Amino acid sequence: FQPKVLRGKRVLVTAGPTFEPIDPVRGITNLSSGKMGFAIARAAAEAGAEVTLIAGPVVLPTPAGVQRIDVQTAVQMHDAVLPIAAKHDVFIATAAVADWRPAAVHAHKIKKAEDGITAPQIAMTENPDILRAVAQLPQPPYCVGFAAESEKLAEHAEAKRRRKGIPLIVANLGPATFGRDDNALLLIDATTQRELSRADKLSLARELIQEISVRI
Ligand code: C5P
Repeated sequence: FQPKVLRGKRVLVTAGPTFEPIDPVRGITNLSSGKMGFAIARAAAEAGAEVTLIAGPVVLPTPAGVQRIDVQTAVQMHDAVLPIAAKHDVFIATAAVADWRPAAVHAHKIKKAEDGITAPQIAMTENPDILRAVAQLPQPPYCVGFAAESEKLAEHAEAKRRRKGIPLIVANLGPATFGRDDNALLLIDATTQRELSRADKLSLARELIQEISVRI
């Protein structure tokens, strides 16, 4: 039984990787499975919230009662999130957004060079920081970020929280959680740190939703 701690609240979640095309058959992506974000969307809906889930390319079923919008690229995710973000009470950014994208998408498949040796050079350009953009809105929702760090976890996560201008950051306590069904989390806000010990992602998502509900 889940108490309806988010009844009457609107929650926006990003999840999964983004896919940044190079040409019509190739692109750059990452190993995010979307499982944590989908579990959070499900837990928020169970808690009585109206939930919008903006998902990158993942193979996961839509949680019951959740409105899902599928996107491919970081720019598409940004353009889906920004116009609706202020209508939400909470924004939880779990997506592993690509930091860069190819500056130009080739209209046709890039062919191998005649000499068979010369590799193409792909110029990259920076993607928008969706979480930061939402946090900078005049009346932002309560923003929750995720951090995957390989060292000095708490220190780097806290620095990220401040840099992004958000009240709460959730650090993944390794090992790499990509695709796994379990995780362990460290919650850091302006005054406290709290560890959620290793558990399946749905249990952690429910605990996280509980933690968020007492902060809004
Ligand atoms: O700076 P870094 O990418 O490590 O920050 C991770 C957090 O920021 C995650 O919550 C992620 O969803 C969010 N993010 C974003 N847009 C980006 C990059 C990261 O929303 N372009």
